[in-house]
Amino acid sequence: MLLLPVLFFLITTASSTRTPPKYQIDLNEDPFQRWDQVIQDHLDYLPGVVAESKKYIPKPLQPFVWWVASKVERYFPTETRLELEGIAAKSGLPLGEIVGLNILYDIAAFDRRHVFGLGCTSIVAQNSAGQIFHGRNLDYDMTGLLKNITVYVDFMRNGSVLYSGVTFALYTGVLTGQRPGAYSVSLNARYSGAYIDNILMEFYTKFNLPVSFFIRDVLEKQESYEDAVSLLSKTHLFSPSYIIVAGTKKNEGALISRNRWSAANVYPLDMDANHWFLVETNYDNWQKQGDDRRITAIRKLKQLGKANFNEKSMVEVLSTAPVQNNLTVFSSVIVPARPEVFDGFTWIWD
Ligand SMILES: *[C@@H]1O[C@H](CO)[C@@H](O)[C@H](O)[C@H]1NC(C)=O
Ligand SMILES: *[C@@H]1O[C@H](CO)[C@@H](O)[C@H](O)[C@H]1NC(C)=O
Ligand SMILES: *[C@@H]1O[C@H](CO)[C@@H](O)[C@H](O)[C@H]1NC(C)=O
Repeated sequence: MLLLPVLFFLITTASSTRTPPKYQIDLNEDPFQRWDQVIQDHLDYLPGVVAESKKYIPKPLQPFVWWVASKVERYFPTETRLELEGIAAKSGLPLGEIVGLNILYDIAAFDRRHVFGLGCTSIVAQNSAGQIFHGRNLDYDMTGLLKNITVYVDFMRNGSVLYSGVTFALYTGVLTGQRPGAYSVSLNARYSGAYIDNILMEFYTKFNLPVSFFIRDVLEKQESYEDAVSLLSKTHLFSPSYIIVAGTKKNEGALISRNRWSAANVYPLDMDANHWFLVETNYDNWQKQGDDRRITAIRKLKQLGKANFNEKSMVEVLSTAPVQNNLTVFSSVIVPARPEVFDGFTWIWD
């Protein structure tokens, strides 16, 4: 029912799209086996993903990376560790590499864009009726490979959905997720100035949870928009990032620009000041933008207007070039007040 408008819209733009396979990860089940079905269904693609991912880590550093990965793994919470060990066992890939890939964002969010082309656009918009819409394009190098391992996951507890996310087979963290009826979160890369070896050393010596694990942990434990924003702003994160949060009530939308230790800036929606949307790509919003994604999204949002803005309007914004570009792996529209929208409005670009 919800799918039809999206497909209709996309067909009219002559792009080919498909929906990602959907899984349930049962949090009541043994963590070691939880991801078995996801891994089983993607076995053919995994060696290619691992081989390609290695290109993002300078070759001389690779032994160090796998070594760090195998060391930090023991500091992860037990369930996280067991999930990663289960994935390694099921896929037959070395544990150090599985852990290394799971922390790749954290160790690679450094200032060499051409080496690691992670993009992403996140948008929160509020219409005149006070409904909140969260839009997200995930852009990444390795686009073709990632399209083949993109999965939509409902994380279940006691038989109901505790939270949902779009992620990739092999990855246990979440960079795009929803706590139904409460809030949604998406992460965009923010480039820091440090070098990968410094970052690895800090990772090793002052160990903290990788950001994708942290976001999943927030979704799992925080019941309200306020608590999620507060925690996402204050917790020491390993990597600088932009975190966009959308809620269910008026003005519940925030763009958090993160340094490692705390928020550099928290920018909320404010209908009374006519700030009815927030757009983030990969640049500080108070600084010059490196490309036209943000300005294009803003132009489109203004053109559509807040009066009748809805999930289909958000699809339109996300589908406009260069907001949508040849690195875009998938797009999602999330309306936390109507949890079913996320599943119906998540699609992979082919
Ligand atoms: C993705 O999967 C399709 C179908 O199995 C395959 O033809 C294609 O080569 C894969 N793409 C990449 C980049 O591995
Ligand atoms: C799940 O059920 C257990 C046992 O009945 C209960 O202790 C726990 O609070 C429930 N958790 C949730 C999230 O509902
Ligand atoms: C994406 O498009 C840009 C600009 O058109 C081009 O330079 C680049 O090679 C393309 N990348 C891929 C992966 O196709």
